[in-house]
Amino acid sequence: MIQKPKGTYDVTKEQSETILYIEKLLKTVMDNYNYNYIRTPLFEASELFHRGVGETTDIVTKETYDFKDRGDRNMTLRPEGTAGVVRAFLENKMYADPDMPSKNWYYGPMYRYERPQKGRYRELYQFGVEVFGSSDPMMDAEVISIPVSIYKLLGLKGVKVKINSLGDKESREAYRNALLAYFKPHLDDLCDDCRERYQKNPLRILDCKVDADKDYMKKAPTTIEYLNEESKTFFENVQKYLDALGIDYEVDPSVVRGLDYYTHTVFEIEASIEGFGSQNVLCGGGRYDGLVEVIGDKKVPGVGFALGMERLLSALEFEKISLVEEKSLDVYVIPVGEEDKEEAFFYTQTLRMNGFTAETDYMNRNLKANFKQADRLNAKFLLILGEEERKAGIYTLKDNREKKEYKIDKEEIVDFLDTQIMEEEHE
Ligand code: HAM
Repeated sequence: MIQKPKGTYDVTKEQSETILYIEKLLKTVMDNYNYNYIRTPLFEASELFHRGVGETTDIVTKETYDFKDRGDRNMTLRPEGTAGVVRAFLENKMYADPDMPSKNWYYGPMYRYERPQKGRYRELYQFGVEVFGSSDPMMDAEVISIPVSIYKLLGLKGVKVKINSLGDKESREAYRNALLAYFKPHLDDLCDDCRERYQKNPLRILDCKVDADKDYMKKAPTTIEYLNEESKTFFENVQKYLDALGIDYEVDPSVVRGLDYYTHTVFEIEASIEGFGSQNVLCGGGRYDGLVEVIGDKKVPGVGFALGMERLLSALEFEKISLVEEKSLDVYVIPVGEEDKEEAFFYTQTLRMNGFTAETDYMNRNLKANFKQADRLNAKFLLILGEEERKAGIYTLKDNREKKEYKIDKEEIVDFLDTQIMEEEHE
């Protein structure tokens, strides 16, 4: 049998309800925050990610799904959402809109050729936001507050917000030089990748998985020590606004993020649940004031984040949070004989068009088997349609829970169900 590709997964019946519930909540939260939905292609010119995400990041150097299309163009399945949204922002001249900042949200699959393990997939779903045009630290705090609110609304308790600052261009340059000086005596000891990172972007040495446990890695200088006055003030203001929202966070200098585009604020939210596993970063993001200029030539500040759906789902599972109730059906329509099918089929459709969840039998079951099926579907009402009912235009409606039976004119059933089901929903 052909199996699914490594690092991918199928979503079926039970889990799909939870996912749809979360998606609905994400849309509501984004409406409340006044963000606009944006959708960009699953594949882009490879160059976008090389320029945008960075030549020295793992997701670009080792993990992209690259292919040549039939026109010999180099294409890449998007490993993340930010670069594509920045491109769309530029290409659609969204910077010319006087309604600023431009607040965008997205949701969809990303592709990374990683070594699959729990919490790490090759096709992963991200929900994220990208905001353009505001240099106000209040914007950073708003962006951080979004995943915090989402986790809270879902009832997740074991989450820890970690923030850090990489500073502006000048601070980053000072830090880069400090890292170059610091790692120089350890050059021979670094792994091959890190020796290359040393040349291109020494910051990336800090998220090396091979050398992570070495003592000198733990003692490396931190970004905060190299922030200039302006960057320090900016970071203090982000914290002031987070405090204003009552958000708990921890300043953690080890948060440097694995992508090249960040300036100033960076943050991650971790699942701090006992036994959750190593892939515990639920979401990450930060400010990227230089990225729009790198991709297009407009100087527009940006800030955003993305959260992983798979890790969110396993955190919910870990905390035993169940979001959806057992599925039920308003009406199950049962045709008694072959000649009743047409009218039953039509009446099922009528019920659906009137806003009820309705189903009929497509398996030619006998009456007894249909009663069983109605129970399987958790049907509130059964509508039984036999020759007698059909001819009189008066149907038999059974309340499956109260075990009551009614004979109702077919023209009046919708109203009857309306009062019955609506009353129940208000109880
Ligand atoms: P990222 O940290 O690479 O950032 O990914 C964000 C989140 O996606 C992670 O925290 C994790 O929950 C999830 N994730 C990443 N890779 C995998 C994987 N292989 N399997 C399962 N989940 C995964 C970004 O992608 C940035 N674009 C975030 C951002 C937006 N920064 C500014 N704006």
